[in-house]
Amino acid sequence: MSHKSPKDFFAPLAVGAPAPLREIPARPSRAIHFFDPSNPKMAAKVPAMVGTVDVLLGNLEDAVKADNKVAAREGLVEIAKNTDFGKTQLWTRINSLDSPWVLDDLVTLVTEIGDKLDVVMVPKVQGPEDIHYVDRLLAQLEAKGGVQKPILIHAILETARGVANVEEIALASPRMQGISLGPADLAADRKMKTTRVGGGHPGYLVRQDPVTGPDGGPDIHGTRAVFQQDLWHYTIAKMVDACAAAGIYPYYGPFGDITDVVAAEDQFRNAFLLGCVGTWSLHPKQIEIANRVFSPSVEDIKHARRVVAAMGDGTGAVMLDGKMEDDASLKQCLVLVDLAEELAAIDPKLKELYDAIEIED
Ligand code: GLV
Ligand code: MG
Repeated sequence: MSHKSPKDFFAPLAVGAPAPLREIPARPSRAIHFFDPSNPKMAAKVPAMVGTVDVLLGNLEDAVKADNKVAAREGLVEIAKNTDFGKTQLWTRINSLDSPWVLDDLVTLVTEIGDKLDVVMVPKVQGPEDIHYVDRLLAQLEAKGGVQKPILIHAILETARGVANVEEIALASPRMQGISLGPADLAADRKMKTTRVGGGHPGYLVRQDPVTGPDGGPDIHGTRAVFQQDLWHYTIAKMVDACAAAGIYPYYGPFGDITDVVAAEDQFRNAFLLGCVGTWSLHPKQIEIANRVFSPSVEDIKHARRVVAAMGDGTGAVMLDGKMEDDASLKQCLVLVDLAEELAAIDPKLKELYDAIEIED
């Protein structure tokens, strides 16, 4: 018999560790802002960012030089101990499971600042066995450190094997909080030929059919519109399904071209429309974009509330502005209304905007 009893899923994996959660709380996480705790200039800015972003993430993995790995870990402990995070969540990205640093990352962070850490992001996850390893280790360390609430796990989807196993990864532990796309490592691992960090590529396109040329045949070399396609559509859609089926949250990942705020916004919006709840931010500029894009617009909420009001007990069908609304479209609207409520609870400006909405009949 290889399966464990369903009754055992919610038993702690170490004696004295907190009991696993039965549901992952829907805490707003529109922007996960990455900072390098070994960079004193960046670290000094962290306390002032509390309250301006949903998640602050102390990054220990890629982008931190090997020589700075210990300083980053210790810097994060220092920042966590000396900062009151209020409603802002504190996450970390640990080093990968095949690195010499990850064990010390987990031992130090969980025993020193375990009660302040909400989520541990695990990079380069290949399969459920990676989550099981971290799951057990977290339980042992929570027990050792007297941590009161279970630390959640977030996996980065950035290997071909990880994508193939994404459903099993999402279901691997009650600690699973969510999954982010890691387009840079994923591109490398899959041997995709883009060198960009996230975003599109001008070579990945479809072209309008040729119009008829002067000789009556197709004008192959004439002017034909091209439409850039989204390199990440398949992976994001697959990730969203895996997450939704498991009751956890999907995220876009890094968008490396900090200056191209327009394309970043488009990419984030595609992810939002497909079901993602947030994205990474690599620069304060991207926080503003993410907070806007991953919050339903006033127009969306106005429409959604109108449908909710018109649908009464939620059954049957009504016509609004010539469009059919029924039980299913009501559910679509409730996704937005519920999200707006969660966001308004932590974002006073958004609350004001949503509260001011008046619904017409
Ligand atoms: C993120 O870690 C990525 O590799 O894109
Ligand atoms: Mg990566």
